[in-house]
Amino acid sequence: MGQSYARRIESLGESTTIAISTLARELKQAGKDVLSFSAGEPDFDTPQVIKDEAIRALKSGFTKYTAVAGIPELLESIKGKLERENGLKYEKNEILVSNGAKHSLFNVIQALVDVGDEVIIPSPYWVTYPELVIYSGGKPVIVQTTQESNFKITASQLKKAITPKTKMLILNTPSNPTGMVYTQEEIAALAEVLKGTKIWVVSDEMYEKLVYGVKFYSVAAISDDMMQRTITINGLSKSVSMTGWRIGYLASKDRKLVQLINNLQSQCTSNINSITQKAAVVAFKGEADNEIEEMRVAFEERMNFTCDAINNIQGLSVNKPQGAFYLFINIQQLPQYGNDSMAFCHKILEDQGVALVPGCAFGMEGFVRLSFACSLEQLKEGVARIVNFTKAL
Ligand SMILES: Cc1ncc(COP(=O)(O)O)c(C=O)c1O
Repeated sequence: MGQSYARRIESLGESTTIAISTLARELKQAGKDVLSFSAGEPDFDTPQVIKDEAIRALKSGFTKYTAVAGIPELLESIKGKLERENGLKYEKNEILVSNGAKHSLFNVIQALVDVGDEVIIPSPYWVTYPELVIYSGGKPVIVQTTQESNFKITASQLKKAITPKTKMLILNTPSNPTGMVYTQEEIAALAEVLKGTKIWVVSDEMYEKLVYGVKFYSVAAISDDMMQRTITINGLSKSVSMTGWRIGYLASKDRKLVQLINNLQSQCTSNINSITQKAAVVAFKGEADNEIEEMRVAFEERMNFTCDAINNIQGLSVNKPQGAFYLFINIQQLPQYGNDSMAFCHKILEDQGVALVPGCAFGMEGFVRLSFACSLEQLKEGVARIVNFTKAL
């Protein structure tokens, strides 16, 4: 009938990975034995203590609206967690709980990025960052990192990318898709560049609990200057295997910003699920830490096996991840597909039933992402199929 849509909604791109996941589904439905290495969530169940608390909350009738930012005991438990585990001192009114870290990121970008503002995003990046910036009318400034720098933005790259229009830098440590973790020194070097500027830092620390042999540092903990300019984003989806519960949070020393985001959320979604809030308190108090550690150890074993196996395949190489549950595999030495990760992912899915995510989806060509959030048996079978595929090229 000729009506139009809002310009901003049409600016959102369709996920680059949809073509691959649709093909994987079609092949599965047609009876093909498809092994998926594209999972973005742990294959472990939520720890029992957390589920028990949810059942208690439900039975006691804790089923009504709550404060928008979260119930006081939840905010108190997050405050305690940030201080105990991250060395970050926030007050309760500097924390706001949302429907997953994705929602926290949406809120903060809506609240800070105006039309024309530039947001620096190191590539490879988690697919959602540039889309959220574009939706707010901002301009993503993509800074290509290299395998040599472990896919981390360097201080000199950051310096070059800054213009008078720069509003924000988005950091993600440990990283999806590369699994790399910024060291204290690397964060300090970036902090030095930002000193004296009005640039906000959004630090997405979703995978902090899943680290292998390195220490995780919160970006805001580096200095008082970083504490003031950083919005810390975290949640329970990955570290406690609670993807379906929908809980994430942001913390900022700028109380006005937190209040403004509270206003936004109060007009959109209000509080998150009341039962999830009660259950999450158990996680933030550390009562599921043993289960989290068991999961981390299992991930580390799978990572070591898969990483070594991939590095033994001619034409493939991967930097050992220090966190998260992904391998970002260099395919550039492969004939035919070296610089076409989408074509590579299509072909290996059709020929071998192996589902991977193309690097182009994360803003870096010549790589594919393999998720090791699946059993060791599946990983062994997957590696064997990848060997078959590359041998035949
Ligand atoms: C880097 C990163 N940040 C944030 C999220 C969002 O997690 P959630 O919205 O489930 O809390 C994800 C999920 O894939 C992620 O990989």
